[in-house]
Amino acid sequence: MIYTRPAQEGDEVAIMSLIHALAEYEKAPNEVVNSAPDLKKHLFEEKICEAIVVVQNDTIIGFALYYTNYSTWKGKCLYLEDFFVLPEYRGTGIGSQLFDEVVQIAKDRKVKRMDWQVLDWNEPALNFYKKKNAILDPEWINGRFFFD
Ligand code: COA
Repeated sequence: MIYTRPAQEGDEVAIMSLIHALAEYEKAPNEVVNSAPDLKKHLFEEKICEAIVVVQNDTIIGFALYYTNYSTWKGKCLYLEDFFVLPEYRGTGIGSQLFDEVVQIAKDRKVKRMDWQVLDWNEPALNFYKKKNAILDPEWINGRFFFD
C-alpha cells in the first residue's frame, strides 16, 4: 500500500537520498551541500521548511518539500522547492496525488500564490505541470549568490 504523510524525525536520511537523486536527474549532482543533520534541523527544529513523504512498505519513494514565501504584490505564498518520485514508481498517479496535496495545503493556508521552478529541458515535468493547468512563465531570470 502506498500512502503519503507529513515528514517526521528520522525521515531526513531518506529524503536526503531522494534530494541527491533529484540533483542527479537535474544534472547537478555536485551542487548538493545540504546534509541529513542540517535537513533535520531545518524541518523539525527550526521548521523553516516542511515536507510530505510518499511511503511504500516503510520505504520513502517520493517527497515534496515546501515553505512559506512572501510576495510584496500578493502577500503570503507557498514555494514548492522539490517534488520527486523514484523512477520505478512514476506514471501511476503518485506524483499527481502528491502535487495535489501541496496545492490543497496552499489553499487551506489561504496563500495567494504557489510557485516552483522547472528546468526548461525537463519535458516530463513541463508536461505534468501543463496537465495541471499551471502557469509556466519563462520571462523571469533567476538572480543568485552562493555563500559558504
Ligand atoms: N511524460 C509525460 N507525461 C507524464 C510523465 C512523463 N514522463 N510523467 C507523468 N506524466 C503525466 C501522466 O501521464 C499523468 O497524466 P494523466 O493524469 O492525464 O494520466 C500525470 O502526468 C500525472 O502523472 P503521475 O503518475 O501522477 O506522475 P509521477 O508519479 O510520474 O510523478 C514527477 C511526476 C514529475 C514527480 C516525476 O516524474 C518525477 O519525479 N520526475 C523527476 C523529478 C522532477 O522532474 N521533478 C519536478 C521538478 S520541477
